[in-house]
Amino acid sequence: MRIGVFDSGVGGLSVVKSLVHHQLFEEIIYFGDTARVPYGVKDKNTIIRYALEAVEFFKNFDIDLLITACNTVSAYALDEMRDASRFDIVGVVKPGIIATENALRSLESEILIIGTQATIASRAYEQPLRAYGFCNITSKATGLFVPMVEENLYSGPLLQATMDHYFHNLKTPDAIILGCTHFPMISDAIKHYFNHQSTMIHSGEAIVEYLERHYALNQKFPTTALKFFASENPEGLKKVADKWLAL
Ligand code: DGL
Repeated sequence: MRIGVFDSGVGGLSVVKSLVHHQLFEEIIYFGDTARVPYGVKDKNTIIRYALEAVEFFKNFDIDLLITACNTVSAYALDEMRDASRFDIVGVVKPGIIATENALRSLESEILIIGTQATIASRAYEQPLRAYGFCNITSKATGLFVPMVEENLYSGPLLQATMDHYFHNLKTPDAIILGCTHFPMISDAIKHYFNHQSTMIHSGEAIVEYLERHYALNQKFPTTALKFFASENPEGLKKVADKWLAL
């Protein structure tokens, strides 16, 4: 199975890492819209327009499935993307919701959802989780983490100050939904901030579970052929990919 993976920038590489680790696919074609990242501060129409352009890009390849490894796009543009393409499209929000439901025993559990401004404003995680019965949910837009990850700042005083800025008045959550595919790169720091008391919900791991359940992925591929494309500075994206995938 040859698949496409799309994100606004490098964040979706955290999803690629999970897909490669679990040996699900023979070939992955990655496209990061590095020229226009971040998407998380843009409005719905712009996000949809960019997402449809990504669909056009992937029409040049004979893919079986497109994974939208961007929570922001998954929150706003999946229906439009599906209408515009013949290949199957899976986003990361639904798998993240299912993973959260499976991870928590009590509907009283404290859930913290972090993501871009757009993802949080969409309530794409919060609404279904409330409908499921969870009643202690805090949603927080933490968009500053995106450029920090793009700058390879995975630890240090700047990240610490940013976490303080966003989290200082929060109770320790039982689960933290990393509702942005950039955030797994700082997941250890966030976990440490909350004294390792919180279960982390990671888009990559969640989508692996989802794909294994919903698709007939019977074969394992010990090596995955990876091709990287970017709308700007593809060498930069490739460098980050080499670094992240080796971690
Ligand atoms: N990685 C994207 C996401 O999962 C967000 C980064 C951006 O703002 O473009 O939402």
